[in-house]
Amino acid sequence: MRKKIVAGNWKMNLDYQDGVSLFSEVVNMAKDEIVGDQQVVVCSPFIHLHSIAQLAKTASHVAVGAQNIHQAESGAYTGEISASQVKSVGADYVILGHSERRAYFGETNALLSEKVDAALKHGLLPIFCIGETKEERESGKFFDIIKTQLTEGVFHLSKEEFAKVVLAYEPVWAIGTGLTASPEQAQEVHAFIRATVAAHYDQSVADETSILYGGSCNPKNAGELFAQADIDGGLIGGASLKSRDFLDIVKVFN
Ligand code: G3H
Repeated sequence: MRKKIVAGNWKMNLDYQDGVSLFSEVVNMAKDEIVGDQQVVVCSPFIHLHSIAQLAKTASHVAVGAQNIHQAESGAYTGEISASQVKSVGADYVILGHSERRAYFGETNALLSEKVDAALKHGLLPIFCIGETKEERESGKFFDIIKTQLTEGVFHLSKEEFAKVVLAYEPVWAIGTGLTASPEQAQEVHAFIRATVAAHYDQSVADETSILYGGSCNPKNAGELFAQADIDGGLIGGASLKSRDFLDIVKVFN
């Protein structure tokens, strides 16, 4: 059975103390309220990682992750952070290929494939994001775009390596816009992603791959989205900044 995962992406929000306080609330609520075996992941800015990873040790359901890494091992890359540095503070996951990184920082599928390799080499589980822009959806080419993102970003991995990757489908037009993909629209793409994974690897690999939905997911729409056959959880932006909303989304899997 593939893992059900709800991952929060705080993006560039929350000063140090605010982030630690929010995470403490999430951990305490998770201890009291989670009765299923879903995995909660909080992907914070780098500044919070060490402290919240310590707090996460007290809650079996909760792990932490970064939102990016550099692809190199180490060296003269001022301002960057490596996979081993992120791992060394206790993080287990890293978001790679978020559409904001692709759009604002020029991250290509080729670069992302190197970041995926760096993450796996140092024991970080990639949450690999894929998804189409509004123009790509309207042009009808979105299945091709998504297939290319998978092919160039993660399909160089062996089966054993790919088994460690979580996929996140995030239609760019739904991120932070309040425009959620309908459950049917999301399910259609998730089923396509799973079929593409099955065609490249095999059906059992595809059946074990967790595919998260991201894009204006909130406590009101999460139930219907997560009820779809190929949606295994969510990557939550705005709603992960409020502990009550985030936990209510997590509890869809109770
Ligand atoms: O990584 C999270 C996604 O970009 C979704 O963000 O929930 O604020 O739309 P959002």
